[in-house]
Amino acid sequence: MFTEILGINDESVLKAKYLLLSGEIVAMPTETVYGLAAVATDKDAVKKIFEVKGRPIDNPLIAHVHKDFPLETLVYIDNDYVYELKRRFMPGPFTMVFRSKNVVCEEAVCGGDTLAVRIPSHEGCQKLLRAVNVPLVAPSANLSKHTSPVTAQHVYADLNGKIPLILDGGKCGGGIESTVLDVTGSVPRILRAGLITKEMIEDAVGKCEIAQHKDGDKVRSPGVKYRHYRPNCETALVNTAAEAVSLYEKEKAAGRTPYIMCDDEIAQSLTGYNVLNLGKTDKEIAFNLYDRLLEGEKKADIVIAVSFNREDGVYLGIMNRLRKSCG
Ligand code: TXA
Ligand code: MG
Repeated sequence: MFTEILGINDESVLKAKYLLLSGEIVAMPTETVYGLAAVATDKDAVKKIFEVKGRPIDNPLIAHVHKDFPLETLVYIDNDYVYELKRRFMPGPFTMVFRSKNVVCEEAVCGGDTLAVRIPSHEGCQKLLRAVNVPLVAPSANLSKHTSPVTAQHVYADLNGKIPLILDGGKCGGGIESTVLDVTGSVPRILRAGLITKEMIEDAVGKCEIAQHKDGDKVRSPGVKYRHYRPNCETALVNTAAEAVSLYEKEKAAGRTPYIMCDDEIAQSLTGYNVLNLGKTDKEIAFNLYDRLLEGEKKADIVIAVSFNREDGVYLGIMNRLRKSCG
């Protein structure tokens, strides 16, 4: 199959709409990472997503809708705090998990009784969602277990020949996937950390829990139990710059090409070393994380990541991705 990459305009959106409504799957930009979209009620198209990605069949998909789409047609809103969360964080990098009204096909939710819904803020994505005017389920547009794509070229590298169209909406502004929040209970619960933080949710509605996954638990957000986000090279996660340098020297002496991935402050102290600089602030680090990992897999035999050793705010989501990709 020939894979076309098109910038977003009326014509390309019409083409994507036609492909989607005729059962194809199409890659689209969002403000977090690129998604691989199918019409949520089309079970054959949804199956294609799982096949093309090699995704485990027990890992449900998020339904994406435009900002005027009536959520009540898809899900039950059991708790009033949901309205405040929607008002504050949607459209945006934020997904809520509700009891499902089973409009979306069973394949998309892996037979479960809940549905995750997200309203992306990316303008090109909104344009597509409005054009199709039906929910599109979309996981990240990478091969399962690989690092999530934040440019159309990243998507192409994984899915060339497997899908007909990639809509190119530029580099994703967020850089890590949406926060996934279970809103079926009286207290909202974070299933996957992201740019909308625990602190922001608490500020909006008072309370917020973080789901703790222990071995043997029935996992509520199946995606969190899998190996994930890994670049196609060796990786290591260390606690300090000194540890990174010592491992770097060892790798170098063995004739290999190491790269150290770290924040800007450490990067500035490492002149003469191969460095993947993630930037200064939490937002910059999230924005750069997958892009640097995908740069690293091209250049390095081993990416040595230096931990941020903190879990407040956006760092909770960043550290979650860093542990899975490099730990
Ligand atoms: O930012 C994002 O969320 C991106 C863009 C493309 O929208 N999408 C994304 O999808 O990251 P995916 O499939 O790679 O990750 C979806 C996560 C998984 O951890 C999955 O287990 C969880 O959301 N999830 C989906 N539906 C769920 C449900 N009904 N209950 C609990 N967790 C759910
Ligand atoms: Mg993913």
